[in-house]
Amino acid sequence: MREDIENEEMILPVPDSSDEETSIEPVASLQSVQVAGVDLHLQHDKTEGCGGMVWESGKVLTRYITQKKLASYENTTVLELGAGTGIVGLALSKLVPSSKVYITDIPQIMPLIEKGIRINELTNAIPETLVWGERLPRLDSNPSVLLLADCVYYEPSFQPLVDTLVELTDRYTIKEILFAYKKRRRADKQFFKMLAKRFKYNQVTDDPDAEIYNRDSISLFTLERRM
Ligand SMILES: C[S@@+](CC[C@H](N)C(=O)[O-])C[C@H]1O[C@@H](n2cnc3c(N)ncnc32)[C@H](O)[C@@H]1O
Repeated sequence: MREDIENEEMILPVPDSSDEETSIEPVASLQSVQVAGVDLHLQHDKTEGCGGMVWESGKVLTRYITQKKLASYENTTVLELGAGTGIVGLALSKLVPSSKVYITDIPQIMPLIEKGIRINELTNAIPETLVWGERLPRLDSNPSVLLLADCVYYEPSFQPLVDTLVELTDRYTIKEILFAYKKRRRADKQFFKMLAKRFKYNQVTDDPDAEIYNRDSISLFTLERRM
């Protein structure tokens, strides 16, 4: 895969254990990635479950946005669901200062996102708790773009995630939804059945990297609400 996001460099490693027999991986660390020529700092924390690290689909979505979407997101309000470390939303808000980006996740992950916003000195990114299937937060601006990467992996969350997408598209005039997906299990079919009742989904056709990430079972879709 072409690497605009490359050279993950750990800049604040947790000290190694003095016990040489035991290899202890850092659980919390600050990492830097290069996105479209700018440095982006991300807080990782492996104790916070899957949201505490960057996933390949998140990189795919970030790369696509930086290659194809930056101009169209000028002066636009964007909302990211299940952001984890926030790679997608942080990169977008850094590269498009005129955008406003709501970066959302469950309460436990919000400190990572808040730290990411702070250390990247972003004033146009807003952390917001948004739990799928629960009441939407009140937002000061109306988002017109929704982004999500690697949010399909846990069956009990399938219907709540679809419900949240429905609620967001009912409440706001959403002109674009980009959804990066990594296929892991057959059960994911259930998600796509639920999704297809309310949304049409199509693979993006203008991503030159698609052939490469498709080989790793990653796809990038646009979603369109069925009326
Ligand atoms: C596999 S991680 C992907 C993180 C990030 N999008 C990426 O690609 O690196 C899935 C994310 O979905 C979030 N998530 C899981 N269940 C959720 C729920 N019910 N409501 C909101 N977010 C949820 C997790 O906290 C986690 O950050």
